[in-house]
Amino acid sequence: MKVLGISCGRRMSNTEIMVKEALMGAEEAGAEVQFLRLQDYYIKPCTGCNSCVVDLMEKHGGGACVLKNDDFPVIDELIMDCDALILGSPIYEKSPSGQLKSLQDRMGPSHDVGFRMIAQKIREEKGITTGKGPDPRSFKPRTASLIAVGGSEWDTLALPTMGMFALTHQMTVVDQILINWIGLPKVVTFHEDKLARAHRSGKHVVESYNKGVDNAEYIGEEGLCPMCHCKLIEIRNGHDPYPAVCGVCGVRGTLTTDADGKVFFNVKEEDRVHSHLLLSGKFEHLQELADVSLKPPVGYETVNDRAKKYRDYLTPIKPPARDKGEKAEEGEEL
Ligand SMILES: Cc1cc2nc3c(=O)[nH]c(=O)nc-3n(C[C@H](O)[C@H](O)[C@H](O)COP(=O)(O)O)c2cc1C
Repeated sequence: MKVLGISCGRRMSNTEIMVKEALMGAEEAGAEVQFLRLQDYYIKPCTGCNSCVVDLMEKHGGGACVLKNDDFPVIDELIMDCDALILGSPIYEKSPSGQLKSLQDRMGPSHDVGFRMIAQKIREEKGITTGKGPDPRSFKPRTASLIAVGGSEWDTLALPTMGMFALTHQMTVVDQILINWIGLPKVVTFHEDKLARAHRSGKHVVESYNKGVDNAEYIGEEGLCPMCHCKLIEIRNGHDPYPAVCGVCGVRGTLTTDADGKVFFNVKEEDRVHSHLLLSGKFEHLQELADVSLKPPVGYETVNDRAKKYRDYLTPIKPPARDKGEKAEEGEEL
């Protein structure tokens, strides 16, 4: 069994140390471990061209990205190959690193297991045997642990955003660790309790995988959402009858408070199928995309005429010319 550790933090600093400690735990539990520093990689941001989705859903291919000359394929291969992931990120502006978000955008929705399952089904129904199709390793049951490290308690969007990474790949998150007040380089080595927690997390990711993801126990902080343990619940007043929405898995419910002022997010049993954590919720999302946002309105053939005044309005300010395929060296500005 292979465990991949990804640190999105500084070279040899707190996130990397936590991820490596977790990998030591995973190794102790019998796994083969690998580690990468996302900062060593050059990942171009998604341009939103949707070629990957068109390739997957309409051309019956593997969901290939058209962007070239970066390191995305290397990480794609490592993620497809692993059986479990330990994903660590420093917290920047209450969120994980922007580089991780770039990687996420390059993967979802073309790597979303829901999309890939439908794509595979279409290939089978049409009897298509040529070309690659979605990578069969996408469908492996996998486990994940998420580790966010911050210098304060400005952390609200960190683990939820990282949870979306696991959600895309249908990885079962068996642990989440949030570390606050760790700012100075390598200072986490003074916190034996936090290192022990990371070690346990790595072990647990392997043990849960070995037991089978359906029997996986979640050992992180309980959180509010009964589906994904997220603590970030958004209130959308007007969305009757359920104004409370989980920030990660999108399941809807209501908030209540007990006599001590403790808040609970209540989700009815019958509404859990709509969680985007489950394939049922993902398939619903695909259907609503097809029915609503991807359905051309009447008269769509006139769309370019309608948009003409915006195309002709203002010339965008361009950056200085540079070689777009060039990779910045450490400390160097392109
Ligand atoms: C650009 C930037 C923004 C940051 N924003 C936050 C923040 O919003 N919340 C927080 O808790 N820490 C914040 N920090 C502190 C880092 O999360 C903290 O130093 C962490 O240890 C960095 O991880 P590393 O040691 O693995 O690089 C920020 C640091 C940087 C460089």
